[in-house]
Amino acid sequence: MENTGLFARSFLFGVTCFLIMLSKVNGDVSYSVTEEKKIGSVIGNLARDLGINVKTLALRKARLDVDEGSNRYCDIDMNTGDLIVAERIDREELCGLTTTCTLKYEVIIENPLELHRIVVEITDINDNSPTFAKEIITLEIRESADKGARYAVNEAHDADIGINSVQSYKLKENSYFSFVFHNKPGQEKYGELVLEKELDREQEQEVRLFLTAIDGGNPPRSASVVIQVTVLDANDNYPVFSQPVYKVSIREDSSYGTTMTTVSATDADEGADGQVTYEFGHLSGDLLKLFSLDSKTGDLILNGNVDYEKQTTYELKIQGKDGSGLASFAKVVIDIIDINDNAPTIHLKSLSNPILENTMPGTEVGIINVQDKDSERNRQIRCSIQGNVPFMLTPSIKNYFSIVTSGPLDRELTSEYNITVVAVDEGTLPLSSLKTFQLSVADVNDNIPVFEEQSYKAFVAENNKPGTSVCSVTARDPDWRQNGTVLYSLVPSEVNGVPVSSFLSVNADTGILHAVRSFDYEQFRSFKVQVVARDNGSPPLSSNTTVSVFISDENDNSPQILYPAPEGKSLMTEMVPKAALSGSLVSKVIAVDADSGQNAWLSYHIIKSTDPGLFTIGLHTGEIRAQRDITESDNMKQNLVISVKDNGQSPLSTTCSVFLVISDNLAEVPELKDMTYEENNSNLTSYLIIALVSVSTFFLTFIVLILAVKFCHRRKPRLLFDGAVAIPSAYLPPNYAEVEGAGTLRSSYNYDAYLTTGSRTSDFKFVRSYNDNTLPAECTLRKSTLPLSSLKTFQLSLADVNDNIPVFEEQSYKAFVAENNKPGTSVCSVTARDPDWRQNGTVVYSLVPSEVNGVPVSSFLSVNADTGVIHAVRSFDYEQFRSLKSRL
Ligand SMILES: *[C@@H]1O[C@H](CO)[C@@H](O)[C@H](O)[C@H]1NC(C)=O
Ligand SMILES: *[C@@H]1O[C@H](CO)[C@@H](O)[C@H](O)[C@H]1NC(C)=O
Ligand SMILES: *[C@@H]1O[C@H](CO)[C@@H](O)[C@H](O)[C@H]1NC(C)=O
Repeated sequence: MENTGLFARSFLFGVTCFLIMLSKVNGDVSYSVTEEKKIGSVIGNLARDLGINVKTLALRKARLDVDEGSNRYCDIDMNTGDLIVAERIDREELCGLTTTCTLKYEVIIENPLELHRIVVEITDINDNSPTFAKEIITLEIRESADKGARYAVNEAHDADIGINSVQSYKLKENSYFSFVFHNKPGQEKYGELVLEKELDREQEQEVRLFLTAIDGGNPPRSASVVIQVTVLDANDNYPVFSQPVYKVSIREDSSYGTTMTTVSATDADEGADGQVTYEFGHLSGDLLKLFSLDSKTGDLILNGNVDYEKQTTYELKIQGKDGSGLASFAKVVIDIIDINDNAPTIHLKSLSNPILENTMPGTEVGIINVQDKDSERNRQIRCSIQGNVPFMLTPSIKNYFSIVTSGPLDRELTSEYNITVVAVDEGTLPLSSLKTFQLSVADVNDNIPVFEEQSYKAFVAENNKPGTSVCSVTARDPDWRQNGTVLYSLVPSEVNGVPVSSFLSVNADTGILHAVRSFDYEQFRSFKVQVVARDNGSPPLSSNTTVSVFISDENDNSPQILYPAPEGKSLMTEMVPKAALSGSLVSKVIAVDADSGQNAWLSYHIIKSTDPGLFTIGLHTGEIRAQRDITESDNMKQNLVISVKDNGQSPLSTTCSVFLVISDNLAEVPELKDMTYEENNSNLTSYLIIALVSVSTFFLTFIVLILAVKFCHRRKPRLLFDGAVAIPSAYLPPNYAEVEGAGTLRSSYNYDAYLTTGSRTSDFKFVRSYNDNTLPAECTLRKSTLPLSSLKTFQLSLADVNDNIPVFEEQSYKAFVAENNKPGTSVCSVTARDPDWRQNGTVVYSLVPSEVNGVPVSSFLSVNADTGVIHAVRSFDYEQFRSLKSRL
C-alpha cells in the first residue's frame, strides 16, 4: 500500500514537474496560492523551478520586480529559494469579482541578466458572507396581481467567487410567495418572488418575508433580509428601459460632473404608477461615491476621477421603478478611454560604477528598465542617451535596456560622465522623462611619464662646489595618484671608467640633478647621463632622457713655462753674439696653459731687465729679440725677468728669468760661470768648481787661440741662435704631465756646445753638440749633463794593467725621439771611458738583452759597438708606447 502511495506521489510530482517545465518553456512559471495565507507561507520553490542554484541567488541579486507604488504580496526567500507570501493577500481586494485573480511578477537575476515571468494565481476561500444591499427590501404589490406573478428581488452580494458566491436562497415558509433563483452559467443571475396565492389587501395589508442567501462555501455563510411586501391597489405595467445595456465610453481625464449617459425607462401606467424613478442596483461604496444617478432624470453623472490605469471598465446595474413598486433593471457599461497621462518612468536596475578607463567598447555597464502605465501606443517607449557620451542603449529583454560603452574611455580626458537617459512614449502628445546617472572612470596606468624636453643640456663651471644643482628635469604623467607620480633616477653608466653616480645625483622627487663632486675641465669637458622617469604604477611605466653636462673652463691653471726651466731648478744662459743686430732673435720663452680659450691665451712681458730697452719680447710669441744693435758698451751679462700671463678673467701669471751673455768669446766664460752661479748660495763646492774651470779654461783658451790662428780663415764660430729658434720638437713634451724633464736643460750645455763648435778637430772628444753631425737634428740629447772635466797630458810611459773598468760618462742617459722616426735614426750616444792602454782601454758597447712590452729590446734599438751610438731599429709610435728603458 505504502509502495503504491509512494509511486502515485512520485508520479504526481513528475507530472507537476513536467507541467512546470512546460510552463517554463513558455516563459512563465505559475503558482497557485489561496488568499489570506499567513505571511511567510511557502508558495513554491522558485529556485528549483527556474533551475537556479540557491546559493547564487543573493549574489545574483535575484529579485521580484514590482511596479512602483504597487504592493509586493510575494517575495523570494534567499536562503531556500522559496517564493513566499510577504503580505496579506485578499483576493477580493485585489480582483473583486474577476474570476481569475493572478499576480504577475518579473524575476530579475543579474550577471548574466535573466528575466523570468511568474504568475501566482490567487484562489478564493470563503471568507466573505453574502450581503444584501438593504436590510429591508420593500415591495409594493397590487392586490390584482395574478398568481404566478414574478417580482425581481435585488440579489445578495458575495465578494467571493465561484462556489463561494451565493448559491441558493431560502425563503421562510409563508402562504403567499415562493422564491426562484435563476442561476444558469453564462446568464444573468437573479432571484424572483413568485406569487403563489393571490393577495387580498383587505385581508392582509402587509406581508413580511424572510429571505436567506446561502453561499456554497464549506462551511456555508449566509445572510438574511426582510422583504416587506405592501399590498397596493392594482397597477398593471412595469417600467421598460429603452436599452437593456447602455454602453458609454469616457476619457479618463473627464472632469467632475460630466453626464456620461442618461438612462430612461417608460411605464405605460398613468399617474404615479407610470412615474419611473431610477436607482443603482448593488454598488460598492467606492462606486457610489464615483457615480451618481439622478433618480428623476436618469442622468448618470461622474462624481470623481476615473483612471484607466486603475480600472478600465465599470458595470452598473440600474433599477427603474414605477410609483407602485414595479421595477425592471438595465445595465450601464462604462469603458474608460486611455489618455497619455503617464510619462514613462526610468529605473536604474544596476550600474557598475566606477568603470576602468580601459573598458572595451561594447561592455555592459548598467541595466535600466523603463515603464509606462498607459496602454497601447501610449505605452510604446523609445529610449536614448542624450548628449555626446560614449555610451549607448541596447534593448535587452522587454522593457530592459543595457547601457553599453560605445567608444574608448580616457580618464585623463573625462573622468566622470553624466549619462542622461531620455524615454519618450509614442502618444499623440508624447510624454517623456529624463534620468541622469553619474559614472566615474577609474584610472589605469596607461600614460608613460613624458619629459618636457627630448634632451637636456647643463652647463657647469669647473671647480663647482659638490652639491651644486646642475639642472632640473621634469616629466609629466597625467595618470591618477601613484600611477601619475613620477620618480627620477639615473641610469647606471660610466664616465671615463667611473660610475656616473659619483659625478651626479638626481633628486627622485624633484628631478633636480646635483653635482656630487667638483669637476675639472682639464680632466674632462663633458659627459652624458641618462635619467629615467618612472611612475609608481604597477607595473610602472618609464621613459628616459639624456642630460649632457658641459663643464666650462675657469682660469684655474697658471701658465707653465717649458723653456727656460723654471727658476730654482737650474739656470739657463743664452749666448748673444756681440754682433747681433737690432731685431735678431735671441731666445724664446715657451709656456703653456692647461686651461683653454682665453684662459690659455698667453702674453709675454719683460718685467725687469738689466738694460731696459735692449731686448723686447714678442707679446704673443715669447720671442726675445734685440731691440737695437748691440754695442761694446752693453753689459755682458743681461738678466731678464719675464712674466707670462694668461688672458683669463682674473689672469694668472708665472715669471721666469732668462740670462743672456753678450759674448762671442769663451774668454768671458769665467765671468759667465760667475754669473751663472752668482745667485746660488756660494759654497765650497762652487768655488772648487770655479777654480777648476778657470784653470781648464785658461788652458783651453790657449789651445783655441792657436787653433783659431790656424783656422781663422776657414771657419767662423757658430752662433747658437742665428735666425729661427731651433727648439727641437722634443722640448714640447706630448703631455704636460711629463714636463719634469724640461728642467734638465742645463746652462752648461750651451757652454759645452759652444766649445765644440770651435774645436772640431780637437783631440779632446769629450764634448758634443746637438749640432754635431753625429747627432741629427731630430735626435737630441736631452740630458747630456756632461760633467765639466779637464785632462792634462804628461809624457810618461807606463805599462798598462787593466785596472780600470769602463765608466760611463753619465749614470743614466735619456733620449728623446720623435715618433715616426726613420729606422736607423741615431737616438743618442753613450760614452764610457777606460783609461787603460790599447785593448785594455778599448770600450765595446752592447745592449743587455731585455724585453719591452714583451718584445726584445733589440728589435727597438741597436748600439754601435765601437762608437756607442744608439740607433732606432724601427719606427716608433707614440700612440703605442711612450718610453722604454734599456741597459748597456
Ligand atoms: C554632472 O552633474 C553634476 C550635478 O548634476 C555636476 O556637478 C557635474 O559637473 C556634471 N559633470 C559633468 C561631467 O558634466
Ligand atoms: C593605477 O593603475 C592600475 C592599473 O594599471 C589600477 O589598478 C589602479 O587602481 C590605479 N591606481 C589609482 C590610484 O588609480
Ligand atoms: C631609454 O629609452 C629608449 C627609447 O625609448 C629605450 O630603448 C631604452 O631601453 C631606454 N633605456 C633605459 C635604460 O631605460
